[in-house]
Amino acid sequence: MKLPSTHYSLVLLSSILGLSSASTSSHLNDDSPCVARSPTSGLYYDLNAISLAPPELKNGKKVDGEARDESWHARGHDYPANFTINVCAPVLENVTDVVGVDSARWQNVSAFYEQAGKIYSIGEQASEPFFRGRKLVLNYTNGSPCPGDWNTASANTSIRTKSTIMSFLCDRDALPNQATTSFVGTMDSCSYYFEIRSSAACGGIAVDPNSGGLGPGGVFGVIMLIAVAAYFIGGCAYQRTVMHQRGWRQCPNFSLWAGMFDFVKVSLLALLAFASCRPRRRSRFGNLDAHTRLPTSRLD
Ligand SMILES: *[C@@H]1O[C@H](CO)[C@@H](O)[C@H](O)[C@H]1NC(C)=O
Ligand SMILES: *[C@@H]1O[C@H](CO)[C@@H](O)[C@H](O)[C@H]1NC(C)=O
Ligand SMILES: *[C@@H]1O[C@H](CO)[C@@H](O)[C@H](O)[C@H]1NC(C)=O
Ligand SMILES: *[C@@H]1O[C@H](CO)[C@@H](O)[C@H](O)[C@H]1NC(C)=O
Ligand SMILES: *[C@@H]1O[C@H](CO)[C@@H](O)[C@H](O)[C@H]1NC(C)=O
Repeated sequence: MKLPSTHYSLVLLSSILGLSSASTSSHLNDDSPCVARSPTSGLYYDLNAISLAPPELKNGKKVDGEARDESWHARGHDYPANFTINVCAPVLENVTDVVGVDSARWQNVSAFYEQAGKIYSIGEQASEPFFRGRKLVLNYTNGSPCPGDWNTASANTSIRTKSTIMSFLCDRDALPNQATTSFVGTMDSCSYYFEIRSSAACGGIAVDPNSGGLGPGGVFGVIMLIAVAAYFIGGCAYQRTVMHQRGWRQCPNFSLWAGMFDFVKVSLLALLAFASCRPRRRSRFGNLDAHTRLPTSRLD
């Protein structure tokens, strides 16, 4: 209670600093789905913003405008098919009769193309983007069998399957939940390469997004605390150096605060006295009366 006001302000300030440093240094977690940490900058890149989920599964998550019911598309150009892709999640489309993939894994197809009425998977869901140097990369594996291997599938052990590799590029002008996928090329129709431009691949966040960090309320609270701390520190510095005050008098507007404190104290005491004395008064005064009466009666 009897801390000098400068100490009080310092305590307040250090608690603010402690709060903010704690929120940035703890809860860091590389295992969050669809999040990658850049080894060069240490920032987290959260691709969940462009990971599409069926509308009914998007509960609680913020969606810009109406939820999409289609995955991202990429034109094949010279390749004789167009591609459908989702990021970190299976495609939203119902895929059935996927060439060379068990029906149990149809729901896991994250990228496919359709050719001559057949659906070819070019990779199964994966949610671990990672950095290769400065490139943010995500790959899908276990798609349909590669063309050369399909006929020789009896050579069970060395069957190769289609796979996809995606490179994410920052696009600051893109809308928050928007992605532009471009097909770059394929080797032997076995591995497919895409570039995905999105704002999700930009800045990066210092805090693991899944830890929650500071919400808008928390940010407001921190700003308020800093304002209060600045008021006290600045006020104290002024009172100390310009007005040459010491002790409690260094507090900015000391008399105002002291008056308010006294008022609150007096009201509280009055309230307490009123609340606690009322019911006990009778018995206590009864005893007191008895005690005081005894001597008086004795004296009489
Ligand atoms: C790919 O999509 C474009 C435009 O949506 C369309 O014009 C083209 O015919 C499609 N290509 C194939 C092979 O389906
Ligand atoms: C996908 O399949 C589900 C059930 O199998 C069905 O209810 C739904 O209408 C289908 N959606 C589309 C777009 O075909
Ligand atoms: C396939 O999807 C199901 C349900 O979405 C999931 O439980 C399962 O782990 C997935 N399998 C793989 C190999 O990702
Ligand atoms: C594909 O991604 C996994 C992590 O999800 C990684 O371990 C693997 O090395 C990657 N493969 C290639 C060819 O980049
Ligand atoms: C392929 O491998 C499975 C086990 O993984 C085995 O049961 C099956 O007989 C093999 N088929 C051929 C044609 O070798």
